[in-house]
Amino acid sequence: MRAQALVAVAFAAALSLVGCSSGTPAASPSASSGASTAPAGGAGGDVGVFTWWADGSEKVGLDALEKLFKEKYANDTFVNLAVAGGAGSNAKAKLAADLQNGNPPDSFQGHAGAELQDYIRADQIEPVNDIITALGGSSVFPQSLLDRLTVQGNIYSVPSNIHRANVVWVNPAVLKKAGITAEPADLDAWIADLGKLKAAGVSAPLSVAGTWTQVQLFETVLIADLGVDEYNKLFAASANWESDGVKKAVAHYAKLLSYANTASDGDDWPGATDAVIDGKAAYNVMGDWAVAEFTSKNKKDGEDYTYFPVPGTKGVFDFLADSFTLPKNAKNPGGAKDWLALIGSAEGQKAFNLAKGSIPARTDVPSSDFPAYQQSAMASFKSDKIAPSIAHGAAVSQAWNSDISSAISKFYGSKNQATLVSDLAAAAKKNAA
Ligand code: GAL
Repeated sequence: MRAQALVAVAFAAALSLVGCSSGTPAASPSASSGASTAPAGGAGGDVGVFTWWADGSEKVGLDALEKLFKEKYANDTFVNLAVAGGAGSNAKAKLAADLQNGNPPDSFQGHAGAELQDYIRADQIEPVNDIITALGGSSVFPQSLLDRLTVQGNIYSVPSNIHRANVVWVNPAVLKKAGITAEPADLDAWIADLGKLKAAGVSAPLSVAGTWTQVQLFETVLIADLGVDEYNKLFAASANWESDGVKKAVAHYAKLLSYANTASDGDDWPGATDAVIDGKAAYNVMGDWAVAEFTSKNKKDGEDYTYFPVPGTKGVFDFLADSFTLPKNAKNPGGAKDWLALIGSAEGQKAFNLAKGSIPARTDVPSSDFPAYQQSAMASFKSDKIAPSIAHGAAVSQAWNSDISSAISKFYGSKNQATLVSDLAAAAKKNAA
């Protein structure tokens, strides 16, 4: 209990640094009655749901939700509007155009935090206070998470899950080739292990994919070198992105990349995780959606793969949460509310997160219902300090993320550390609120 309270405080503090407003949500005049008064079987009609969980292991979680939705809301017709591309790399542009053109889906996937604030500021989504209240409000969702979905007293989306971004996925059989048996204590020890693997004939022991996966790797290195408290300060208006800590992180990041495969900008994450599965690489830093990929290839936790927090980030949970919205002028708001009620229910969260690798956003889904990895993530989320993810919309707006991504992509070609630092500082200056 006490640990939980401390986490809540740490989480709330982290959130307040990224410009989220908090407070008790007021009842929204525009949000309708939500789950409790919906007609049995649902409102009826097509319900277009927009995500980037279009194929492969990403789709398995969405399929689990679709199945349950059909069972619970037989009047409704689920229409899958998914656009492929990890982290919404293609989906977000299509979504922005659809919203701009007054053609919103009935509900779309967004990220709790700064990314959601973009849609709120652009007046593109409706409050869903009543749905959250009907689902149990802050008695089932952590208040610190609700704060991240709240602006001026209104809650703007229903969280489906919480993912952890600072996880290294490991192929123990590859480590064996270099006689590595222990988890590295920090980034330098990890880099030393990468060197041993290379010397043992593993040409690219660390696997990376396209730009957003590199941004994610970089954010974890920032957390390791700055520490969680300094990392969390990076998103405040006065942040210093040219500190010695940031420079040290950039140097570590450059070193890590020197042990990685060559990737193109658009390469998607499953390729990088599969490199670990196939024994081509020893390590991949990936969010815990990787669990679904290992499972889809029948790989066994603890035998075929293991995992640990990115060295130097133990005790930190690099956080992101998918959450679903009610767009303004949705064609079928009643059906959209059925969808939101389903994904926010305990049953929906269990079905989805079992398949997705993430943990429920709700606190009343027993951890014993989940396999070992998710149990460990649930325990970490309770006791760790929270750092919001840059790559996945928790820490920065889409515009800021896009400037950081350009800087990281440029660095991938140039390897010029001083330029990366000044590009990051310029991005912060331009975008920090
Ligand atoms: C994240 C999203 C996850 C997962 C991942 C890879 O942005 O929150 O649920 O889909 O991208 O595509």
